[in-house]
Amino acid sequence: SEKTACGSVRGELSDLFRTALTLSFPSVAADPVVAACNNAKNGDYQCNNAMALFGKLKGTPNAPKAPRDVATAIVGALPTNDLVAETSLAGPGFINVRLSRDFVSKRLSGMLVNGLAGWAPTGYAGKKVIIDFSSPNVAKEMHVGHLRSTIIGDTLCRIFEYCGSDVLRLNHVGDWGTQFGMLIEHMADARQARVAAGGEDKDMDEDVSDLQELYRAAKKRFDEEEEFKARAREAVTRLQGGDAGSLAAWERICAASRREFEAIYSRLGVKLQERGESFYNPMLKGVVEELKERGVATMDQGALCVFLDGHSVPLIVQKGDGGFLYATTDLAAIKHRVNEEKADWIIYVTDVGQSQHFDQVFATAKKAGWLVDEGAKVSHVGFGLVLGEDGKRFRTRSGDLVRLAELLDEAKNRCAATIRERRAEAGEEVDEAEVEDAACAMGYGAVKYADLKNHRTTNYKFSFDEMLNLKGNTAVYLLYAHARIAGIVRKAEKDVYALAADTPISLDHPKELELAIHLCKFPEALEDAIEELGPNRVTDYLYDLSEKFNSFYVDCKVLGSEQEASRLLLCEATAVVMRKCFELLGIKPLYRI
Ligand code: ARG
Repeated sequence: SEKTACGSVRGELSDLFRTALTLSFPSVAADPVVAACNNAKNGDYQCNNAMALFGKLKGTPNAPKAPRDVATAIVGALPTNDLVAETSLAGPGFINVRLSRDFVSKRLSGMLVNGLAGWAPTGYAGKKVIIDFSSPNVAKEMHVGHLRSTIIGDTLCRIFEYCGSDVLRLNHVGDWGTQFGMLIEHMADARQARVAAGGEDKDMDEDVSDLQELYRAAKKRFDEEEEFKARAREAVTRLQGGDAGSLAAWERICAASRREFEAIYSRLGVKLQERGESFYNPMLKGVVEELKERGVATMDQGALCVFLDGHSVPLIVQKGDGGFLYATTDLAAIKHRVNEEKADWIIYVTDVGQSQHFDQVFATAKKAGWLVDEGAKVSHVGFGLVLGEDGKRFRTRSGDLVRLAELLDEAKNRCAATIRERRAEAGEEVDEAEVEDAACAMGYGAVKYADLKNHRTTNYKFSFDEMLNLKGNTAVYLLYAHARIAGIVRKAEKDVYALAADTPISLDHPKELELAIHLCKFPEALEDAIEELGPNRVTDYLYDLSEKFNSFYVDCKVLGSEQEASRLLLCEATAVVMRKCFELLGIKPLYRI
């Protein structure tokens, strides 16, 4: 892929303008500001440097008289190239660029012949990117918040993987902490009760078969029974002291929890490496010592605190009783990820409610010298709430948190019903295995897409009716759109890849050109997605692509037309890019309706 890597059109234009800016105004350093035109009537791209540059040059010898003069000089200094067909000036000094049709056509042919790998944004290949996502808590419900983290995190991983980064997908599972004391004690009591009733004196699978129930029951006793509470506390101490029996019980609870999480991940097609909080436990003492030694952490009201500028509350790293906290573990994790994993970029995907936590953790790591300016970059990718149709926090009718497995079942079942209906209407036979596959692709795809298409920080309403709508910006609609295009190409019964090698893609019709230019913007959508850590850039792009294709298909006959070969290539290029979008969004494409 390396030798065919070409970057984005916007990037190549920026390089041209960078040269033009240096040549025309060597005395002022200016980064090129190049963007796609909002209105295709003006041009395909524009360079917006002239106005600001004019301001900077004011008062210097031979200063230009108007921003337009600056623009003219920049255009005059553009190096010879094969991208730009034409430039024009607009308004106070915008430089509009019209792309060469031949360039666009060749870029598309090149993509079909060499594959889409060459279109991956450059600059991330070989970089170590750690994405900390999903991260549910053992024995507690994996709720819709964790679903969001799982979906957004997985898409970010897929984007970086496409760019050739060395991605480490880490599941920072909440598998350590004081809650285990009460769980272990409650399990021990259940076993004793079983023995008293004549049962076997051994651990039973049923003890951990319903972890949420175990948690609920244990918590109730912890809150209500003083004697139990005391025992739970002792159990924590034993566990932390490395007592074998306690560790075995802890391990059983984790294993049961892991099975539940894995079931969800496998349905969603998400891969994750588990490295829970317990992994960092042996490092916590050292981390705290180091913070004290460096004067970063100080004692305040009995707790060890880090006071940070701009924060009204300190970050507590050790409680008065010596216990460590969520933040202590995250500090150990940062240090480990920087020093041992050699991360270039560490990305955390959690709800926006944890923004302050991460700001403070990052600031503390900087103060401690674990994060330096030239070193690893850290980002918190915060997301908003999932709301029910009533606009309140998403709950089931009984008021419980929604169970993820049930939610996925419902999406799948609704899709299966729709598919069967369509097949029946068409009088086609139903292949149950195929319907099941298609229903999973659609149902899970719909859940993911509905989540990803929103700007991640906004709260969004979870609505099956909306996400499964056959029309509009939904995965179902897009999957059908892709299947339709794949159908067109299939119907032609031609080897499109053989065609691609020797048939130039003609872009004489404006709708052909518009579609082709949008296809070439795929790398830019990914650059923006990475820049903002916003998967909605990919969904927006994908939806626009299907709209541009529709508009092309209405006006341009494909099968049986004089331009059939060339237009088939446009269809295939669209299908290829759509499939890559689906792949990045973790959605399985469908090839038939
Ligand atoms: N377990 C946490 C929760 O459920 C999320 C962990 C996120 N990752 C981290 N490194 N703190 O809220």
